[in-house]
Amino acid sequence: MKIVMLGAPGAGKGTQAKMIAAKYQVPHVSSGDIFRANIKNGTELGKKAKEYMDQGLLVPDELTVDLVIDRLSWEDCKNGYILDGFPRTIPQAKTLDAALEKIGEHLDYAIDVDVPDENIVTRMSGRRACVGCGATYHIVYNPSKKGENCEVCGEQLILRDDDKPETVQKRLSVYHEQTQPLIDYYAGQGILKSVDGTQDMNDVFAAIAAILEA
Ligand code: AP5
Ligand code: MG
Repeated sequence: MKIVMLGAPGAGKGTQAKMIAAKYQVPHVSSGDIFRANIKNGTELGKKAKEYMDQGLLVPDELTVDLVIDRLSWEDCKNGYILDGFPRTIPQAKTLDAALEKIGEHLDYAIDVDVPDENIVTRMSGRRACVGCGATYHIVYNPSKKGENCEVCGEQLILRDDDKPETVQKRLSVYHEQTQPLIDYYAGQGILKSVDGTQDMNDVFAAIAAILEA
């Protein structure tokens, strides 16, 4: 099962990817989480990536593509994976297709979690992310049972630096310009599935599970 999650920033790609990973026992590979782990650990890559991320811009392909494609060659990915946040541009998608073709593999589904821009800014300002394990919550739609701390690891929950309203607007415009064209790209390959991401997160998940089990 090789799945790509598509959708605007804040559409719920990460939320759904984690639920799919838990139910179907395949790893959740998030380019954003990989960058955030590097930022937290103070690596050179993290320092470079942060400059772009804080402005709501995409991290350049030179720093992104090999890193993510290499992650897919790890042992835990041999039965599949859920890619979240990658590919994000047509060149990234073409590089991924070429890398898979080389080893005789292909993607099974590209799932677009569709949420209009109007809903996004409210979602992002209420999101809280764990500094320890990266788990995500929402102060209204999915609050942590431990208040300001993570239910999973107990670490502190924070508002991501790139979730301020001005940065969210920039990320949305970058999404429409550079990432949305992937919807047509994967529709052309016959693997696109769309779900209504404005529903309750469990209903979104039920819609995705119905696709995967059809
Ligand atoms: P990344 O981490 O991928 O961020 P993003 O795409 O902007 O998406 P988000 O993580 O913000 O949203 P999400 O869709 O995962 O939503 P979530 O489930 O958290 O990338 C960050 C940055 O890294 C990029 O801007 C870029 O700079 C760089 N980068 C990453 N990959 C790159 C690449 N391939 N190339 C170049 N640069 C790259 O949900 C959002 C909130 O809503 C949460 O609070 C959640 O609890 C809540 N929520 C979720 N579902 C629902 C629902 N159904 N109803 C109500 N609330 C919900
Ligand atoms: Mg995410």
